[in-house]
Amino acid sequence: MIDLHSHILPGIDDGAPDWSHTLSMAATAVEDGIRALVCTPHCIPGCFDNRRTPILDAVDQLRERLMEAGIPLQVYPGSELRLDRRIGDSIESGQIMTLNDTGRYALIELPPQMLPPHLETFFWDLISRGVTPVIAHPERHPVLIHDPEPLCHWVEMGVLTQITAASLMGRFGSMVRRFSIELMEHGLTHILATDSHGPQVRAPRLSSAYMEARAILGEARAMDMIQTIPQQILKGKPTATTAPLCLTRRARNRSIFDLLTSWLGRLTPRG
Ligand SMILES: [Fe+2]
Repeated sequence: MIDLHSHILPGIDDGAPDWSHTLSMAATAVEDGIRALVCTPHCIPGCFDNRRTPILDAVDQLRERLMEAGIPLQVYPGSELRLDRRIGDSIESGQIMTLNDTGRYALIELPPQMLPPHLETFFWDLISRGVTPVIAHPERHPVLIHDPEPLCHWVEMGVLTQITAASLMGRFGSMVRRFSIELMEHGLTHILATDSHGPQVRAPRLSSAYMEARAILGEARAMDMIQTIPQQILKGKPTATTAPLCLTRRARNRSIFDLLTSWLGRLTPRG
């Protein structure tokens, strides 16, 4: 398994505070069957100003520490970029980090409580520069949970999305778990990752969520989410994804209506 989203680098964001936590996370990941992991510290201007060169240096140090500790985990550089209109320019000038530094895929975090206008234009701009946006954990975004229609348009444009293992396992509540499943069933998400922040806090474990994904989607599509698509991203190569089915607010209301009518129908005595 490949974990594409992890806050394992020590002391540079709200993830691992020091090397002992970092190595403990790495050992947990290996024990769970993760063989490769992308280090994706937050890059939030004015809060966590993690730029490309220090991330590359920290990943080099991590490789040395892993070798010294005898932990067989391959690690790659990356970053979780908070949405900002300067992202395209900053990638082109080499200031901020794409996934495995290929310049082809950027992990993008949306602002937590709202969706700014003109997001479609932002995504088009990145795609036209040859950078595929990968939206981090849309299943936890309150605006998208309420109305997933914009996400459908972005995925149709070629945007990828990543859901979090803990979301699928119900650790953020039943609404987030349900929405994660809906996104999977509609081909609106492509990657399953841990977004781990510590050995205990959203720990770097993927195997249970993979089993869950396999039960929902079947083995081939579940493997796509934890192996095939992340592998292509690491190589900076194109990914093959299934065509999305649109999940609209109206369709969702309709299905709730259908559920209610069928439930009421069951209560009605039949002649
Ligand atoms: Fe994250």
